[in-house]
Amino acid sequence: MSRRILTGIKPTGSPHLGNLAGAIAPAIQMAHDAADAQCFFFLADFHALTGGTAPDELHAATHEIAATWLAFGLDPKRAFFYRQSDIPEVFELSWMLTCVCPKGMMNRSHAYKAAKADQADKKGADDNINMGLFTYPLLMAADILLFQATDVPVGKDQVQHIEVARDLAQRVNLHVGSNLALPKAVVAESGVLLPGSDGRKMSKSYGNTIPIWVEPKRLSKLIAAIPTDSSAKNAPKPKNHALHVLATAFCGTDTQSVDALFDSGASWHEIKIFACDAICAQLLEPRRKYQELAQDSALLERTLMLRVPELRETAANLIAELRSKVGIRRLS
Ligand code: ADP
Ligand code: TRP
Repeated sequence: MSRRILTGIKPTGSPHLGNLAGAIAPAIQMAHDAADAQCFFFLADFHALTGGTAPDELHAATHEIAATWLAFGLDPKRAFFYRQSDIPEVFELSWMLTCVCPKGMMNRSHAYKAAKADQADKKGADDNINMGLFTYPLLMAADILLFQATDVPVGKDQVQHIEVARDLAQRVNLHVGSNLALPKAVVAESGVLLPGSDGRKMSKSYGNTIPIWVEPKRLSKLIAAIPTDSSAKNAPKPKNHALHVLATAFCGTDTQSVDALFDSGASWHEIKIFACDAICAQLLEPRRKYQELAQDSALLERTLMLRVPELRETAANLIAELRSKVGIRRLS
């Protein structure tokens, strides 16, 4: 069977430079390079509900993230680009998986364990955890197995979830004699981990993000806030600094110019201006496209729906086969 690359993005909050460098740009590149593979990129909007994302925020983030992927050149004719919620067959598969999944497997899931560890009152530790979060890996496994994905590009934190999907596919295959593809996680070793405005990993959970679409003036303020050391004014600057990672990620192919700048004795102020200019230059053309797309909700909606009929037909065929295999079929 040919390679099928699939990944989901939760629409929670505005996309930031870390999402761009670590997920959006590499996935679009992968779709472009993988002539032999089918690509599936989707907005995991039902997953966003597990974190209690506010309705308006979920809706706005869906809009913003869809426009962002297209602005960076995702070709919806080459890759399937859709919303999880437009493929209701996912829920039917999710239920079938729920019924072969040992509860202990969910007890051990990172997302659930992390939420449990966060509870101050350990006695009622499960009280504030919704069942959506507990069964999060089951919906995710259904996303993956429904389209028989073989390669799932994800960050390290998601690897366990792909292993759950693989384990469940094996259980179903063994139990009913199906032939579900066994997915594997693809963690980009070379993937950059972008630092945020406080120097830690850029993440919505740390509140240190640099959103992709902030105006250049605000961008320069956020970059100015990145802490620097007290190296002497004309001394070379350390290359293990957050600003080096940031500038390198956005300088295009000329990474040597960043090294040269750090060696040259340029001041932190000059380095910050360089980083800001590099980011603005890389975002110039996508920003123009983004502004056009973001105003055209009808176009975004049409794009997300473009290939849903095709996807649902594929999904319905798999579900029909599995229904029959588990014993749910017409009486005559
Ligand atoms: P956040 O940590 O801001 O909530 P998500 O968990 O929604 O971000 O991540 C969405 C995608 O972006 C994932 O594939 C993740 O690996 C990637 N990503 C998030 N933050 C960074 C970062 N600072 N550097 C590189 N990639 C990142
Ligand atoms: N859980 C993933 C995240 O938080 C998003 C996601 C949902 C996903 N379904 C998926 C990723 C299927 C890969 C495959 O980033």
